[in-house]
Amino acid sequence: MKQMQLGAIAFCFAAFAANGLAQPTFSGDVVPIIQQKCQQCHRDGDVAPFAINGYDDMVTWSEDIARVLKAKIMPPWKPVAGHGTFKDAFNLTDAERNTMLSWISSGMPTGDLAAVPDITPPTGTWQLGDPDMVIQMPQVFDVPRTKDLYRCFVIPTDFDTNQFISAVQVVPGNRQIVHHVILYIDTTGNADKLDGKDGQPGYTCFGSAGDGIATTAGNILGGWVPGQRVRALPDGVAVALPPQARVVMQVHYYPGGKPGPDQTKVGLYFAKAPVERRLVFFPILQQKLNIQPGDANAVRSTSFQIPIFFDAKAITIAPHMHLLGRKISVDLESLDKKTTTPMIYIDDWDFNWQGFYNWTEPMALPAGSTIKLTCTYDNTTNNPKNPSNPLKLVNWGEGTEDEMCVAFVGVTFDNENLVKSIIPFNKQTGR
Ligand code: HEC
Repeated sequence: MKQMQLGAIAFCFAAFAANGLAQPTFSGDVVPIIQQKCQQCHRDGDVAPFAINGYDDMVTWSEDIARVLKAKIMPPWKPVAGHGTFKDAFNLTDAERNTMLSWISSGMPTGDLAAVPDITPPTGTWQLGDPDMVIQMPQVFDVPRTKDLYRCFVIPTDFDTNQFISAVQVVPGNRQIVHHVILYIDTTGNADKLDGKDGQPGYTCFGSAGDGIATTAGNILGGWVPGQRVRALPDGVAVALPPQARVVMQVHYYPGGKPGPDQTKVGLYFAKAPVERRLVFFPILQQKLNIQPGDANAVRSTSFQIPIFFDAKAITIAPHMHLLGRKISVDLESLDKKTTTPMIYIDDWDFNWQGFYNWTEPMALPAGSTIKLTCTYDNTTNNPKNPSNPLKLVNWGEGTEDEMCVAFVGVTFDNENLVKSIIPFNKQTGR
């Protein structure tokens, strides 16, 4: 065994020498990678089980790191490269992965440690400075000892007119057990009716904000998954929070053996520049699912045509399925059907790592083009996440054992101009 390792090391040296490349060092090659691709989660008090604060931590965890890099399970970035380019992507390129692996297998040379005095990342609260307003779960919620728990909390707001929001930052009250958060907007009053019915703050919800709170255009405020950086919307674009709306905060807890209290809060950043266009979320969805027990490859799809005369831009996207989902892809087909542009593709869906992905540049959705959504499910016992045993027929629904096939696409319409009171789609968005 030892012999083989030495052989592998010798091979690495030879490979690097043959390429004329210097052997990777901690200071020169590894630090930038862990700062950009690991530390947003692997830092003190954050979601990952250990911090990578410097050289010693890398050495301590090197065996595990080599294993997860080879298996490509870390970092947990889901979109497949080549299907849309996203801001703040933390996937490793093959070159970065190889650099880390050869650094580990070649004995983890330090390089010039003096050149990297301290790489401990900041753990301060607000990424964009102090928010204009902070809202939070009205009460502390004592998260019980359990595996996964999805709960919605109702937070009242009392703006008299539309309040335009250009960024939100979710700050988990208890980072060790808060896994992800989605912020919905409710103007129906239904969230209030569900709140506290079981004697605890909030109510149980899984696939959405709960029964009767329609997933219609515009009812999402934002969301958060671990490692996500906060970004303000482009100048002139904002999400409208209607007067007296409720923010419904859906929190996924995974407390495992460490239950504890949580009171998650949200910083709201109001739009500073005049708002010309609203960001509205269009749910592209297929509700006819009918996924037969034993079907390992159930493919369901749907499409949505951008209305003629309304050129639009897509800024952000949140694909969504439940536990049987394996793959989800969204593509844009031109009006003449001659070109198809991939918007996003996830080939290894994980309900626990769902997020909002922002394209590096807003993506043009020309009038008349069609957004196509395809969801693939595995309803067999080979799917380790399948919640049903015995297997059962699965249809659309809110529950853990139901499924969904949705992509929430955050779009703006080019010809909307609130400053000049040009408001297309007012009926559709209910605003
Ligand atoms: C988006 C957050 C996030 C990022 C970025 C991230 N990790 Fe992790 N990491 C986690 C979480 C959470 C766990 C705990 C296991 C889980 O829930 O999947 C974990 C677990 C691990 C483990 C232990 C896994 C095991 O099976 O024991 C290693 C090793 C690891 N990460 C290394 C890395 C390295 C190296 C990077 C950067 C190249 C990285 N991670 C980037 C969140 C992250």
